Amino acid sequence: MGLKLSRRQFVGSTAALSLSAVIPRSLLAASSATQRFVLRTDAAIGVVRPEFHSHFAEHLGSCVYGGLWVGKKSPIPNIEGYRKQAIEYLRELGVPVLRWPGGCYADDYHWRDGIGPAEQRPKRVNIHWGGYVEDGSFGTHEFIGLCRLIGSDPYLAGNVGSGSPRELRDWIEYCNMPSGSTLAEERIKNGVAEPFRVRYWGVGNENWGCGGWMRPEVYANLYRQFSVYLREYGGTKPFLVASGPNGNDRKWTRGFMDTLEGGVPGGLSMHYYENGPDRATEFSADHVDQQLSIFKRVEEAVMEQRALLDSYRDGNKVGLILDEWGVWDKIPPEDEKRYGKLWMQSTMRSAVAAGLGLNIFNRQADKLFMCNIAQIVNVLQSLLLTDGPDGKSCIRTTTYYAFALFKPHRSKTAVRVETQDASPLALSTSASKAQNELVITFVNPRHDTDLEIDCTIQGTTAREAKAQILHDPDWNACNTFENPNRVAPQPYPVAVEGSKLRLDLPRLSIATVTLKTA
Ligand code: AHR
Repeated sequence: MGLKLSRRQFVGSTAALSLSAVIPRSLLAASSATQRFVLRTDAAIGVVRPEFHSHFAEHLGSCVYGGLWVGKKSPIPNIEGYRKQAIEYLRELGVPVLRWPGGCYADDYHWRDGIGPAEQRPKRVNIHWGGYVEDGSFGTHEFIGLCRLIGSDPYLAGNVGSGSPRELRDWIEYCNMPSGSTLAEERIKNGVAEPFRVRYWGVGNENWGCGGWMRPEVYANLYRQFSVYLREYGGTKPFLVASGPNGNDRKWTRGFMDTLEGGVPGGLSMHYYENGPDRATEFSADHVDQQLSIFKRVEEAVMEQRALLDSYRDGNKVGLILDEWGVWDKIPPEDEKRYGKLWMQSTMRSAVAAGLGLNIFNRQADKLFMCNIAQIVNVLQSLLLTDGPDGKSCIRTTTYYAFALFKPHRSKTAVRVETQDASPLALSTSASKAQNELVITFVNPRHDTDLEIDCTIQGTTAREAKAQILHDPDWNACNTFENPNRVAPQPYPVAVEGSKLRLDLPRLSIATVTLKTA
């Protein structure tokens, strides 16, 4: 790292910090490389929809029960049954949309099991996630209550695999009809006079797999049938999300679109997980490289699925939704036994993976509609972890902090960044602008190379800059119940002068720079 900056070149709140005070000596001695690129503020891509930073909660392990919902009588501090600490953290971050109740669980969920007096709700076996008995105490009203508390737009995933058009149409009427019909009156009797006004409705989930193991033509015919009955009530027009491909499966999307022959859905749900062969906290260096380098495929999938949809009549009206995404590492049975099914730690590597994904969404802002990471609490690449369903501790993961570093991009216009290096583990960047403000995020996915960033800003000049970094040279570093803030964002020095921006970006880091522009 050879960045020599005079004091005058430092601008903004971090001006007093010297680089050597922030970057450990060992890192300064490490392998380093210079990355030059051009930021084109004159080349707009599209709006960074806040919905790119949305989430997913399934009845799986300790995500809902014990994670988000502890019940009103719990000794764990709660707000009307919702885990208080989780609510506070999620509110602070902002969760634009929350998808529920699955996942695979959605196609075996019957919404009537989750309404009415809790003690009268039937007990059902969760066949997908361990065969435990669900008491249905977290149902539609509790989910909507959660969304209201954290300020999210609710997204309900309907049952196609084992449900019927009638069941799904009734759920919509129950939620959205203001009054007068038997279903609306039932909602009112259950305590909520105002309609829930739920806009987003999933028409099944992974219907190529756990949602009925269908061929795309079979699912498309069912989609056509269901969509006839899924209507507007009280002025809330449902935005229907059809079950889309597993990764970049073009055969599924083609089969679906060919069979539709018109009448396109509002959105198509693509799922894309990056598997990890090791336990989250025990990754080998080779496996870090392997997992982070395949992230490029997500970007290819977004571009190719978008192009495929656009090749159909009215296909450009279908919003591409990355409905489930993130890393899915090896999960040891002892962790699941202790904390719940699919409970997984998030490390510095996971945060970098999240950063790679979020940068892709900015760069492809014109091609995406919504993205929901899997999942919000305790399951897979979660934002929060609790020490089991009965544990009192609730901590923010490295992935939570990766999302926090991208928050300044929300609702801004993504602009092009021209880089030199297109290799799989290259520096990842994205930028967005609003009046007098420019936000840039850099992700260094290399575990052995620090980078000197040399950026030319085209189309505007910068007056003032500040930066935040999430970094740990140990890719297995994580936040734990004993040390909950080991990996958290820190202020970081950045130099700007006119159209030049320079920053030292250590290995395995995410840095967001906010510039005031002329
Ligand atoms: O997120 C866990 C599971 O992954 C979901 O239930 C399913 O949709 C996907 O296969």
